[in-house]
Amino acid sequence: MTKKVAEFTASECAAIEKAIGERRSIRAFLDTPVPRELIERLLDIAARAPSGTNMQPWRAHVVVGAEKEKVTQAVLGDFAETGVQRHDSEYKYYPDEFFEPYLSRRRKVGWDMYGILGIKKGDGAAMAAQHGRNYMFFDAPVGIVFTIDRRLEIGSWLDYGYFLEALSVAARAHGLETCSQAAFAYFHKPVREALQLAPEEMVVCGLSLGYADWSAPINALETERTPAKDFATFRGF
Ligand SMILES: Cc1cc2nc3c(=O)[nH]c(=O)nc-3n(C[C@H](O)[C@H](O)[C@H](O)COP(=O)(O)O)c2cc1C
Repeated sequence: MTKKVAEFTASECAAIEKAIGERRSIRAFLDTPVPRELIERLLDIAARAPSGTNMQPWRAHVVVGAEKEKVTQAVLGDFAETGVQRHDSEYKYYPDEFFEPYLSRRRKVGWDMYGILGIKKGDGAAMAAQHGRNYMFFDAPVGIVFTIDRRLEIGSWLDYGYFLEALSVAARAHGLETCSQAAFAYFHKPVREALQLAPEEMVVCGLSLGYADWSAPINALETERTPAKDFATFRGF
């Protein structure tokens, strides 16, 4: 007989909705360490994510302390030389030209963030400095670099998204916060060198993990979402 999966109580359901609904990208962390066992547990939970034919395309490089610093220094060395896109990412995240409604959404989150930080339009140096904080993992005690085997196809990237979301939500449930960071993909060369990645590994993104510094203004950033009624069609009801 098939084992029936347990149903959720109303409060468990509320807790799950809270973990998903209140997850946000956090960009300032306390230096409070996160035990290795907990990180491993979160990765184990995230790995319950579904993937096409159960291929599980994820691969994680977890760094703390001197190893994290090695990644930071490798990237910042290059970043200081030539700015944001020193190397092209090995995959294309964004279109060459943005268009609506995506352009406005992207602009809004950018200006909201710079607004909170008091960075004025056109202040390239301040923007670059803020961008550079990505590579310090926003001072989080734990950095993770995620890679994928470059021989895999776009379907596996879809699987990867499930995994990363599961990880972020599971972290929240444990009082931890995250920021996914495609910023690392643009610096895949120094990241590759610092982590001695295998040739077939492509950097998908980085992720900062730790306890939020709620006193940091940037963590007040809240992003909007278009409601389902505006992006979904419902037929046959
Ligand atoms: C795959 C991925 C890559 C991202 N890369 C970055 C990044 O490099 N730096 C950053 O500050 N935020 C990054 N973000 C965070 C997004 O800006 C953020 O998810 C979005 O604005 C919505 O805000 P929220 O996560 O707080 O809900 C990334 C998010 C995802 C899912």
